[in-house]
Amino acid sequence: MFFMTTSATETAGERVQGVPLAEFRDVNLRYDGSSESTLALEHLDLDVHRGEMLAVVGMSGCGKSSLLKLISGLVMPTSGSVKIHGKSVTRPLGIVGMAFQKASLLPWRTTLQNLLLPTEVGSARRNGKGNGEAVARARDLLATVGLTDAENKLPKELSGGMQQRVSLCRAVIHQPELLLLDEPFGALDAFTREELWGVLQRLREETGCTVVLITHDLTESVFLADRVAVMSPRPGRIVYEAAVPFARPRHLDQRYESDFTRIAADLRHHISKPQEVLP
Ligand SMILES: Nc1ncnc2c1ncn2[C@@H]1O[C@H](COP(=O)(O)OP(=O)(O)OP(=O)(O)O)[C@@H](O)[C@H]1O
Ligand SMILES: [Mg+2]
Repeated sequence: MFFMTTSATETAGERVQGVPLAEFRDVNLRYDGSSESTLALEHLDLDVHRGEMLAVVGMSGCGKSSLLKLISGLVMPTSGSVKIHGKSVTRPLGIVGMAFQKASLLPWRTTLQNLLLPTEVGSARRNGKGNGEAVARARDLLATVGLTDAENKLPKELSGGMQQRVSLCRAVIHQPELLLLDEPFGALDAFTREELWGVLQRLREETGCTVVLITHDLTESVFLADRVAVMSPRPGRIVYEAAVPFARPRHLDQRYESDFTRIAADLRHHISKPQEVLP
């Protein structure tokens, strides 16, 4: 049996409580439903604990984005169960906020107007509590991510990193309990990515939300997460979990310390066998 896990209380310290916020049990996901179609996930078991930042890593195509689509209710499992607060997910949920690799801001809207979008539509409206409160919250978020001066700018006037800051703020404007991030820093250069790690740490401190972060970057996963789950190649399932015990806030220099590199190397080993170096 190659599945291995560490206890929940060890992984995220005081943030972790007894009942998981989200639970996957023996989940299979086959796109299109026919036997010839793609089996994306197989026998996947995973808990997401309240208040933790969980990173999920794995090779391209292993089913990471599919996992997020299941938690958010955008797709339903072919078999097995996906539960939030102990109830099966049957439709997209308002308690979820999402951000992706591409910021996808509306080009004709200013930063502030883009940020306010989720408070104007759908099930998120109930948390917007009127325009005045939503605007005040949007401005607080912009201050948290260092974008106060960009409030009235259009997306084309912002750098890629600034656009991604707006995208992160937009994902939490309606105060979601659960923030789902699908490689949010994947398109950014290394320096901007490091800056955004700090931004995400601050946003999380500010909002207190539970985070599931999908990433290809093992250093990013260890730097940001309380716990890192490794998926097997497709059909994806969780094959390993590692606790990240470092106190917060974390500092970039910690990446070069032996405790840190040991965890990253351990994760790399469990993703797949590293390529042999040719002489
Ligand atoms: N809507 C869809 N219809 C059919 N197959 C799909 C669909 N979405 C994903 N797949 C397939 O399911 C598998 C898992 O896809 P998924 O996007 O979840 O992987 P991923 O781990 O997020 O990959 P990447 O790291 O490249 O983003 C892939 O083989 C993909 O081709
Ligand atoms: Mg993906």
